[in-house]
Amino acid sequence: MATIPKTDKLNEVRNDADRLNSKVHTADEFMEGITALLNEQMLKYNWVGFYMLEPKANPPVLVLGHYRGAMTPHTRIPLNQGICGAAASSGKTVVVDDVKKDSRYLACSLETKSEIVVPVFVNGAVAGELDIDSHFPAAFGTEDRALIEYIAQLVGKRLEKEQASPPSSRTGKS
Ligand code: SME
Repeated sequence: MATIPKTDKLNEVRNDADRLNSKVHTADEFMEGITALLNEQMLKYNWVGFYMLEPKANPPVLVLGHYRGAMTPHTRIPLNQGICGAAASSGKTVVVDDVKKDSRYLACSLETKSEIVVPVFVNGAVAGELDIDSHFPAAFGTEDRALIEYIAQLVGKRLEKEQASPPSSRTGKS
């Protein structure tokens, strides 16, 4: 069987994410589906999960949401800790090619070699993030980053829509 070139694979997954977005009824369902899609379709995306800011928490804390991959001890991460805290507090994507060399890194699995964390914005403010770990060093190149940022944007828009019009407040089917 011929291997699919990486760009084609990334485009395929982008289209799958669009299709999933039009099929699901809630942002929560979308996030769950995204973790499965990325973990199953992208060989190097070995742990895929969302951390969301706990509403009204003071000081702010990221809480683990849907994820695929090994269990992690990090279910609540303050903003001054980890790669996750760095991405959420700066509102910027963080890519770490070698987690051993980054003192901020909070270990989830001994197998993890590289990581990307992309913030999810809702109405211009960070609401959470999409975190992906790889067992391969420097697994997240420019094209991976573009795909993951695109998906994080879809999630943000979906959450925005839901906040403006929660499923329970709609009449009829959502
Ligand atoms: N490595 C992350 C913690 C989350 S686990 O990877 C799932 C960090 O440094 O913030």
